[in-house]
Parts: sequence; structure tokens; C-alpha cells
Amino acid sequence: MKKVLVTGGAGYIGSVLVRILLDKGYNVRVMDSLKFGGDALYDVSQHPNFEFVKGDIRNEEDIDKAIEGIDGIAHLAAIVGDPACSKFSDEANEVNWSGSVALFEKAEKAGVNRFVFASTCSNYGKMADPDSYVDEQSELRPVSLYAELKVKFENYLLNERKDARICATALRFSTVYGFSPRIRFDLTVNEFTRNVCLTGEQEIWGPQFSRPYCHVDDLARAVVLALEAPAEKVKANVYNVGDTTENYSKRMLMEEIQKQIPTAKAIYVERTEDPRDYRVNCDKIRDELGFTITKKVPDGIREIIKLMDSGMITDAHSAKFRNI
Ligand SMILES: NC(=O)c1ccc[n+]([C@@H]2O[C@H](COP(=O)([O-])OP(=O)(O)OC[C@H]3O[C@@H](n4cnc5c(N)ncnc54)[C@H](O)[C@@H]3O)[C@@H](O)[C@H]2O)c1
Repeated sequence: MKKVLVTGGAGYIGSVLVRILLDKGYNVRVMDSLKFGGDALYDVSQHPNFEFVKGDIRNEEDIDKAIEGIDGIAHLAAIVGDPACSKFSDEANEVNWSGSVALFEKAEKAGVNRFVFASTCSNYGKMADPDSYVDEQSELRPVSLYAELKVKFENYLLNERKDARICATALRFSTVYGFSPRIRFDLTVNEFTRNVCLTGEQEIWGPQFSRPYCHVDDLARAVVLALEAPAEKVKANVYNVGDTTENYSKRMLMEEIQKQIPTAKAIYVERTEDPRDYRVNCDKIRDELGFTITKKVPDGIREIIKLMDSGMITDAHSAKFRNI
């Protein structure tokens, strides 16, 4: 595989993935509608192996332009997160479902070999038994339009189109954190750390609720691993991406921040319900594909502290750092 298309390549995870692919010698084309601008790709724009197509996956002509001559696709473009999908529900349906189907069908016809889909562990929703771990065999209980659309497109790829010629793989990402050229402060680890850096305190609703976390560099590395893995292993297959030891409650996250900023004040607010409370087992991707993480939550906290302490972010509450 030589030429990879990254949809959503100007985004938080995509802009990290693009750099990893370029460093590995791939030709990389990004297709992105630039909802949050293109700043994250300025420095790679002059790279000899980099191409950019400003386009929208809801537009068939843009898709045709983007997939010409492509061997593999990392499909990251989406309306991302529960709040954004609920606020822009029509757009979410068009991008996360119909546009994604159109991209896949056109790629199948055009002779693209690989298709890696950025799905989410949000698909698990609220666990029946909060003390156990969910894995890829567990029931999916989406509790938001965002997760419903991810589950629907996964089903399409892994069941309805499992006999397609393209080798398609779904990766259920843990909640991401850490530094990226498109920094996001609407993700728990980054948000809590930013707030503590700015105000010295953080209010935490429902500190007991848990989720799996994974550094943005490691999620991007998992996409490359799936693109490069033998097709017979990953075709019509699904993997949780992260590490089983990296499930944290919100209280545990705050305690990790306090280890690095001992003066940080936590204000815990009792809450008995959280629709998304799950612990995820990520052993399958380790055992089948040899994936291991290179960073843990404290590393991401350190990165955000360093970024905030640098003083380079002068408008940390700007809309450009969040998806809604
Ligand atoms: N951030 C997380 O914690 C997380 C967790 C699980 C899964 N994911 C998935 O990973 C992928 C990337 O997430 P991210 O955090 O980098 O989000 P992001 O919002 O930073 O990036 C998404 C990119 O997609 C682009 N885009 C949106 N609509 C488009 C359209 N119609 N046509 C072309 N481009 C379009 C945006 O301009 C943006 O650059 C998404 O599919 C997301 O659902 C993210």
C-alpha cells in the first residue's frame, strides 16, 4: 500500500495520523471540509508526499476526487461527540451515515484495498454490570445519536458488506487525550487539566463513573497497524483500541492531575446516573495485532500542563478548541 486517504485529516486525531503516515513514507491525501480550519496541517502542506483536497464527504464529486488512485482509506471525518450530533442531527446523519456509505461504495468500485473506520467505545453505552469489563463480544447499547450512527455504520461494514472486496476494519477508540496540532479542550483529560491550569480547580460531576482512555498518538498508531495488518486477520473485524489497564473514573483522573499539580482543588458533585459508564477490555488488539500503548494518562496531563504553561494558548476557551 502506497497511497492513503485520511478523511478528517485536519482534525484532532487525523492531524497526528497524517504525520505518522508521512514519516513512514506513505503518500498521504487528506480530504477535509475544514470545519475547524486547516491550521493543523500548515506545516505538512509543503511535504512532497502530501496532498490536500478540501471537500465534503456528503458531496459525491468531492469523494471521487479524493479516492482517485488511493490504496487505503482511514475514515475519520465525522460529526464528533454526543453534544455535536444532538445539536446538528441532520448533518450527523448525512456525514456519519449516508456520506460514509457513499465513500465506502465508491471506494469499493474504485479498487481501494483497505478501509479503516474510526468507531468509538461509546457504542457500549451503560454497562449492565458496572464492575465488569466489556469486550468486542459484548452487547452494544448506544445512548446517543453519535453512538447509534457509529453502531449503524459498523454493522453495515462488518455484517451487511462483510463480503465486499475491500478489507474493512472498525476500530472502537477509547476516549482520547493528549497534544495534537488540532488541540481539543472538550475531552475530559484535556479539559480538566486546562481548567486546573487556568483556575486551580475543577468541578467533577459523578466522580465514580468510568471510561477507557487512550493517547492520540496511540490511536493514530492503531490506525496504521490496522491498515498494514494481514487482510485475513482484520477483514470485517472490530477492535477496541486502548489498554485494559487504562480505564479511569473521573475521580482517578483528577487524582492523576493532583499528583502533578498538588494544589489543584477538586469539587466533587454527587450524581447517581451517567448514561456512559463502562470499562473496556482492549486485549484483542494486543493479542491479535501486537498493539501496545506508548503513553498513559499522566503523560497526556503533562503535555497539556506544558502547553498551558508555555503561554502559547492565549484563548483556551475559544470555540476552535471544541466541537460545539
Ligand atoms: N475524540 C475522541 O475521543 C474519539 C473517540 C472515539 C472515536 N473518535 C472518532 O475519531 C474520528 C476523529 O475524531 P477527532 O477527535 O479527530 O475529531 P475532529 O472533530 O477533531 O475531526 C473531525 C474532522 O472531520 C472533518 N469533517 C467533519 N465533517 C466533514 C465532512 N462532511 N466532510 C469532510 N470532513 C469533515 C472536520 O473538519 C474535522 O477536521 C471521528 O470519526 C470520531 O468519531 C474520536
